[in-house]
Order: sequence, then structure tokens, then C-alpha cells
Amino acid sequence: MERSEFIVVLGPSGSGKTTLLNLIGGIDSPTEGKIIVDGVDISGFEEEKLTRFRREKIGFIFQFLNLIPTLTARENVEFALELATRDGAKPGRDARELLAMVGLKERLDHFPYQLSGGEQQRVAIARALAKNPPLMLCDEPTGELDFRTGKTILKVMRELNRNEGKTFILVSHNAVIGKIAGRVLHLHDGKIVKEERNEVPLDPEEIEW
Ligand SMILES: Nc1ncnc2c1ncn2[C@@H]1O[C@H](COP(=O)(O)OP(=O)(O)O)[C@@H](O)[C@H]1O
Ligand SMILES: [Mg+2]
Repeated sequence: MERSEFIVVLGPSGSGKTTLLNLIGGIDSPTEGKIIVDGVDISGFEEEKLTRFRREKIGFIFQFLNLIPTLTARENVEFALELATRDGAKPGRDARELLAMVGLKERLDHFPYQLSGGEQQRVAIARALAKNPPLMLCDEPTGELDFRTGKTILKVMRELNRNEGKTFILVSHNAVIGKIAGRVLHLHDGKIVKEERNEVPLDPEEIEW
């Protein structure tokens, strides 16, 4: 894939979507073949190098909102910033700026239980952005959200792709989400069986859920 692309990978449950993201993100390692990310084969990396790779390159977003419940939105992001800084990253933005980027500047001091599902997912995006990774891996990020909220989340991601040049790989079992991507890959039984290109990707607002 190219830098700054927005790719959606579609496939039914069990087709290997999560496995694919875990391989690209250096969480899993393959039994055979190579994983080339940013021109580098990471499949031979030992744990220390993989950790550095993940820390510098990858932001993960998951289906289930996994914020720390006893920390506010701002504190959840600050915690991620602290970890990134301790690991040697130089985050360019503070928690307030990161939360503003996902449209949450009015919700800084709310706890997760005081936020809607979509707002919690936006905090998770801000948290993933803390280390300023070039590649965002999103595993069914709208799976737990109603369609309206899901569209808002997709919109935030699309804007980060356009405005910040972040590369996105988003996996989903929901075919309509493919319409917002420049490129759509279809996964079946662990293999990419089809590739489509959208000359004009739809705005998330325009998709019929
Ligand atoms: N290319 C592959 N080679 C071997 N096993 C695979 C491959 N892709 C997926 N699997 C296995 O298939 C199962 C389901 O994959 P998963 O990634 O969880 O699917 P999904 O996220 O699409 O529901 C897992 O047990 C995984 O280990
Ligand atoms: Mg999965």
C-alpha cells in the first residue's frame, strides 16, 4: 500500500481480518512469508525491535472501547502521552489538542461513563494519536456503535487521513464502509481474493448504512 492511503479490508467473521492487522502491527508473527511495513521486513524482528516498531509506527483502534474507567478523557490521553514520552517518542501535541482534533474539546474532564459510545471511541482515537504514528490500524472501530455515531467516527478518521496524511487500514464485516475508502480489499479464508478502487470515495455522511 501507499503512504496516506485509506484502505478498507472487508471480510466475514473468521476470515482473518484481526489476524491481518495483528501481523501488520507486529502483535502476531507469521509462520511463513514476510511482513513488509514501510519498506522493512518486520517478520524477523526480535521482541525489542518489534516494540520499537509498534511504538513509532502504529496506532491501534479496537471495536471495544477500552478506556481506563477511572481516568477522564484528558487523563486517558495524557497517560498514553506519558507512555509514549517514556518510550522516547516526542509527541507534538498535548492531550487538549489531540482531543480537539477528534472534536472533543468540550469533554476533556468527563469520565468514560459520562461519554457516549461514539465519544469514547473518539477518545480512543485521540489516545492512539498520542505517539503520532504514521499508520492507524482500526479493527471494526464502528462495530459497537449505532450507524449515526459510526458515521461520525468514520468522518473523524477520514479527516485525519486527509489533513494529517495518516495512513489508515480499517477492517470491517460491513460492506458499505468500503465506499469511503480509496481501495477496498476483500478477505476470505485468510486470503485477499479481490481488490477494488473507488475513484471517488464517498463522504461517510453519504453512505447508506
Ligand atoms: N492467513 C491465515 N493463516 C492461518 N490462520 C489464519 C489466517 N487468517 C486467519 N487465521 C485464523 O483464523 C481465525 C479467525 O481469524 P480472525 O483474524 O479472528 O478473523 P476475523 O477478525 O475476520 O473475524 C483465527 O484463529 C486465525 O488464527
Ligand atoms: Mg476480528
